Amino acid sequence: MKRMILISALLCASLAAMAHVRVTTPETEMVLKADAGSELKVLYYGARLSDADVAGLEAAGAAWVDAYPAYGFHCAGEASIGVTHADGNMSTVLKVDTVSQSHEDGAQITRIRLKDTVYPFYVTVCYKAYQDVDMIETWTEIENLGKKAVTLTRFDSGHLPVRVGDVWISHLHGTWAAEGRLTQEQLERGMMVIKNKDGARNAHTDHSEVMFSLDGKPQENAGRVIGAALCYSGNYELRIDTRDTDYHEFFAGINPDNSAYILESKEVFKTPELAFTYSDEGLSGASRNFHRWGRKYKLAHGDKERKILLNSWEGVYFDINEPGMDQMMADIAYMGGELFVMDDGWFGEKYPRLTDNSSLGDWKVDRNKLPNGIGWLVEQADKHGIRFGIWIEPEMTNSVSELYEEHPEWIIKAPEREPVLGRGGTQLVLDLGNPEVQDFVFKIVDDLMTENPKIDYIKWDANMPISNHGSQYLPKNKQSHLYIEYHRGFAKVCDRIRAKYPDVTIQACASGGGRANWGVLPWFDEFWVSDNTDALQRIHMQWGTSYFFPAIAMASHISATPNHTVFRTTSLKYRIDVAMSGRLGMEIQPRNMTQEERDLCRKAIAEYKEIRPVVQFGDIYRLVSPYDGHNMASLMYVAPEKNQAVFYWWKTETFYDDHLPRVRMAGLDPDKMYKVTELNRIDNVPLKYEGMSFSGKFLMENGLEIPLKHIVDYHKQDDWSSRVLYLSAQ
Ligand code: DGJ
Repeated sequence: MKRMILISALLCASLAAMAHVRVTTPETEMVLKADAGSELKVLYYGARLSDADVAGLEAAGAAWVDAYPAYGFHCAGEASIGVTHADGNMSTVLKVDTVSQSHEDGAQITRIRLKDTVYPFYVTVCYKAYQDVDMIETWTEIENLGKKAVTLTRFDSGHLPVRVGDVWISHLHGTWAAEGRLTQEQLERGMMVIKNKDGARNAHTDHSEVMFSLDGKPQENAGRVIGAALCYSGNYELRIDTRDTDYHEFFAGINPDNSAYILESKEVFKTPELAFTYSDEGLSGASRNFHRWGRKYKLAHGDKERKILLNSWEGVYFDINEPGMDQMMADIAYMGGELFVMDDGWFGEKYPRLTDNSSLGDWKVDRNKLPNGIGWLVEQADKHGIRFGIWIEPEMTNSVSELYEEHPEWIIKAPEREPVLGRGGTQLVLDLGNPEVQDFVFKIVDDLMTENPKIDYIKWDANMPISNHGSQYLPKNKQSHLYIEYHRGFAKVCDRIRAKYPDVTIQACASGGGRANWGVLPWFDEFWVSDNTDALQRIHMQWGTSYFFPAIAMASHISATPNHTVFRTTSLKYRIDVAMSGRLGMEIQPRNMTQEERDLCRKAIAEYKEIRPVVQFGDIYRLVSPYDGHNMASLMYVAPEKNQAVFYWWKTETFYDDHLPRVRMAGLDPDKMYKVTELNRIDNVPLKYEGMSFSGKFLMENGLEIPLKHIVDYHKQDDWSSRVLYLSAQ
């Protein structure tokens, strides 16, 4: 009898163990409990576990939280999904129906189908676990197999419990010209909501990515961190709900506010991917995971070096003309650049684009400014030995435009009301949910590329939010689909463009950094971090942005002083050293620079070409934060083979008799010897350690003293100092 009990206990144990669904990457793991007929539970997310530890998880105490809580049955907590069924029932109860695991394109795919206990309503919770990077994406597929439509009032992508303790959240917020500002705060009880309701763009203000430091105050290179990024171009909502339990509950998805979705019979609603990572190497470790995954699986052409470019915007604004463009091309070619981008102001026939109050939508070249058209400019670029790029803002129009005269029904506006006007007092957003608008937007790119196949780069801008709710295309009962359909339309157009033009480089710009999101970047090669090009503020913005996005995607340009946004004057060397920590470019009128300045840029561009692979494909180690009040900031990139690294050091405040910290490096091979070479040197004498070699161990334990000032002629001295050191293993 005793023996029988023992055997059945063993059987139960093994069945229970079988019901554990393990979603694994090389170093991380999520464990779910998926017993048929029961709720799907999340038990664990963190470092990879042994079989024995998975078997013991429940005994040890696991999260045991619904993976995708549905509203209406045990209502007190937050829900991932809310449904009003066809008969008005607002409750949904989801139980595990089937579980499948497979391998596709080097990733483990887990699909757990949940079924409502009463209605033919299904939710498939999906996980994609990469096998060469430590990222797990989750999303859901919501399916109505009933005969009548149901209404979705909430439709998150995913949900994750984070054990309460000394947990801190790092997240980004900002505004136009101040994007990517880092905020770090301890999670308390109550609800924290991070959201966007811009409608068209979603990264200017708060970002849809966060990191949770699990071991107290966030550290860059130590401690356990969970990172999460909602990959979506539209309105989102992240919630962290901390109630009377041991878990902070993190929810993320499309923002359901004013977006109730009518799910027709047989229709499937797929939610955007929510990507998770885990690292025990601090915030920088989580960033490296995001960057590796992003470059390999998300970012367009994440494995190709980016060209060094000059963009015309801050140099000439709307003052586009042939000799001016030709001169800028000659100048960037002289400095060693590889691409010239003609920004806003080149188009409009009936209404020439002289300023920002007209012409969007009229993508015909302004022959008064450019009598020989785009073709001539492309040819000139060829002659200068560089490539040509062009600016467009395809989702928008102005009330002063031929397009609006022909198609007033294409704009987004509330019924019975005058449209809200944006930039220039005339801007309007086109209704991308309308297939005719999608065709029009696709054709803008298609015409440009067909007429000028040598165009190498497109800057795709978007300078207005959706400011009034109303689609002239959607039926009355589906007006709440406006935001979702806009972004489905955006995705369809981008898919078509990429199918036909896979090679062209496309920048996502949206009044600066409004489209820095992993849901956008699969179609785009990079994003414009901000319209604010001031080097000091860029250190802060790029620091925050680097939490989630790699340098290769962050367009970072050398611009004029006083800076056009904050009017600060920084030295050219400082501006170069900041721009060189991202995807280097220029945004300046070279004609207004002295020969000495042009030559400094020429030298910097040549040196950037040497370190470009390390910056663009290397691993980031953030060392001293500009937000921590040390009057300096420092970070470095290390090549994956650890044979090369680039170290950046920027002073952020100047006080006489200041004593700045000595920065310890990170990420090097302790046993390798690294030769130190200063880049962009302006000093009359080299650094004392120029050309010397140090062990990785020494550099990581002690670092190098960085002089607070540059040794230059008296009249050249200023209060800005910065250093870029190239380390090469001997
Ligand atoms: C906003 C962008 O962020 C700028 O870089 C520039 O392209 C302007 N739009 C042009 O109107």
